[in-house]
Amino acid sequence: MEKLDQRIQLVASAEFNNVVDRWRRDQADLPSRSEAIRRLVLHGLEYEKSYPMRMITAIIRPHKYEELRDALVAIGIEGITVTQVQGFGRQRGHSEIYRGAEYQVMEVPKVRIDVAVSAELVEKAVREIEKAANTGKTGDGKIFVQPLEQVVRIRTGETNEMAIG
Ligand SMILES: Nc1ncnc2c1ncn2[C@@H]1O[C@H](COP(=O)(O)OP(=O)(O)OP(=O)(O)O)[C@@H](O)[C@H]1O
Ligand SMILES: [Mg+2]
Repeated sequence: MEKLDQRIQLVASAEFNNVVDRWRRDQADLPSRSEAIRRLVLHGLEYEKSYPMRMITAIIRPHKYEELRDALVAIGIEGITVTQVQGFGRQRGHSEIYRGAEYQVMEVPKVRIDVAVSAELVEKAVREIEKAANTGKTGDGKIFVQPLEQVVRIRTGETNEMAIG
């Protein structure tokens, strides 16, 4: 058995405790709150290890692309894939203005960017995308984040952390 002789003080909110308690009640063996937190931390670390990279896909307004690209390059992102796409969200394109004209079709032109990043960079990158792409009006777009299993730089055969940037 692992020796549990290191005491740490953890200050948490009632909300945090509720979330942990809800989770631990769902476990077959009803762990103590401390045991639940230990398990969840190890879980999180395992997850980071198995998915050290993420693929971020963002759908944004075309005229926001350059600002967004510069913001991402400024935080150390070394590659971006850009695609012109069409899509619709909750308003189905109807109330959207594009180049001064109100669109009557469902699909509105957007730009899609795909960026592979290391897990440590994800939150920063998402924040930068939000900041650069936000106008506060409907149609600003969405950001999707997914686990990324493998990256290969074709020229050198380098993989993952070595290949991503
Ligand atoms: N659930 C979705 N799945 C895939 N793509 C989506 C989804 N929702 C939005 N998109 C893409 O994002 C673009 C912009 O969506 P939009 O910002 O209008 O979303 P929304 O949910 O309607 O939010 P808002 O109310 O701010 O307009 C769409 O044109 C589409 O390409
Ligand atoms: Mg919309």
